[in-house]
Amino acid sequence: MPEEEVKVATCNARETKKLGTLLAPFLSPGDLLILRGPLGAGKTTFTQGLGEGLRAERPIISPTFTLAREVKVQFSGGREGLLIHVDAWRLKAQGGDIFDEFEALGIEDDFEDNNALVVAEWGDGVAEALSDRILYVDFARSVQRESERLISFVPKGFGMLAGFKEKVEEVFGNPVD
Ligand SMILES: Nc1ncnc2c1ncn2[C@@H]1O[C@H](COP(=O)(O)OP(=O)(O)OP(=O)(O)O)[C@@H](O)[C@H]1O
Ligand SMILES: [Mg+2]
Repeated sequence: MPEEEVKVATCNARETKKLGTLLAPFLSPGDLLILRGPLGAGKTTFTQGLGEGLRAERPIISPTFTLAREVKVQFSGGREGLLIHVDAWRLKAQGGDIFDEFEALGIEDDFEDNNALVVAEWGDGVAEALSDRILYVDFARSVQRESERLISFVPKGFGMLAGFKEKVEEVFGNPVD
């Protein structure tokens, strides 16, 4: 059975953040989220919602100018861990190894201890080696409406998104085709 996708349209940044908080309970350490989409699409906004949903110890800010930032979070069930927020834009442009970068930043051990969720902006083709539980989150801007985004969740080795899909339908209404 193929893994099912979930699609949602959000009308503003607040809704995109909300979507992040809704996904949070379905995430565990070892998961890798790869956020795809153009500049200003809402990747960081979504990650801020994830941080809220995971009760991050401080707000998520854009990791621009550094490859990655760590923040302490609580996964569902109360398990403590880390959210490693990656901006792989430079790594992608210049070529390089994400494991080397983690080592240079001193976050390699945290990652290898397997208590971290990695959320990578611009990580497509760069971050996949980090995990075999991957959830791609695709952000597309609407041509008609300035502040509308179409957001698609595409699991790869991630398992079913049934619980999340139900939650999304409850909050956002019927799925987008
Ligand atoms: N529906 C929406 N969802 C998310 N952001 C929206 C939406 N509508 C408007 N915005 C605005 O778009 C911008 C999204 O910025 P954000 O930093 O989240 O993008 P990004 O994808 O992380 O960009 P970058 O690739 O530069 O890191 C914010 O200014 C936000 O207020
Ligand atoms: Mg960003």
